[in-house]
Amino acid sequence: MLMKYLHATTIVLVLSLSAVVKAADERVEIKPPEEGSVSLSQGLKSWSRIYEVASHPRCANCHTGPSDRPMWSGPSYGKTRVHGMNIQAGNSRIGAETILCSTCHTSKSEDWENANATDHAAPRVAMNWSLAPANAHWFGRTSQEICEQLRNPETNGGRDTLKIAEHLNHDLILHWAWNPGGNREPAPYSLQEHVNDILAWGIAGTPCPEG
Ligand code: HEC
Ligand code: HEC
Repeated sequence: MLMKYLHATTIVLVLSLSAVVKAADERVEIKPPEEGSVSLSQGLKSWSRIYEVASHPRCANCHTGPSDRPMWSGPSYGKTRVHGMNIQAGNSRIGAETILCSTCHTSKSEDWENANATDHAAPRVAMNWSLAPANAHWFGRTSQEICEQLRNPETNGGRDTLKIAEHLNHDLILHWAWNPGGNREPAPYSLQEHVNDILAWGIAGTPCPEG
């Protein structure tokens, strides 16, 4: 009996260890280019790629602004609509006032390969699922609007571009967005390229497109 118990514990340990290793594998490198090495026009090119990512359904579906409704959009959803089942994130942004996001978007800690293998199942990541802060409003907004929000520490959670890049690396939701499973289209480019673009945009002085 004791042996059996010990054996089960070993299996659990091995599984969680391999999940940690998998997460570590996906770490990206944060290496800002040298001061003065990125021109304004290169910075604007970086921004336009950042905008492609931010406005992509894998990001924008959660970054819905003052509305407390997540969105369902992108090819795997057919038509664009608000999240089904009358889901409301509330002020808590995690649905604490009605039904918790984590009721369906359970947090996975093992079996990374298969956690999101089922089409139309609620996506799962290794942290709590939650709607983005109201200030980080990206769904349906222009490149200029998103740019102004993201470069301003007063609206981006008090971050400079280095902190944004570090946040992107630590945030496991983002690792999911480039590897979403379930017939979903991944966000464009890669997490590493996105981080590089954020850093280059920062060194260029966070330029935003006009008009
Ligand atoms: C499941 C919902 C969800 C998805 C999908 C999501 N985010 Fe977020 N995002 C959040 C939450 C919640 C926060 C606030 C976390 C914090 O401040 O620690 C956040 C904050 C951020 C921030 C910090 C800056 C700011 O303006 O608040 C950035 C940058 C960001 N997300 C980028 C992305 C990108 C890029 C994608 C897609 C590749 C994405 N997010 C997809 C929920 C989401
Ligand atoms: C009753 C179960 C349930 C609850 C509760 C729930 N969701 Fe979902 N959610 C789903 C399902 C199922 C899908 C996938 C539907 C599909 O692919 O057709 C989904 C998909 C999503 C998507 C789209 C992800 C993508 O593909 O880009 C977002 C964003 C989302 N949910 C956010 C939330 C947030 C935020 C909360 C809490 C405020 C929440 N959900 C609560 C079931 C739920």
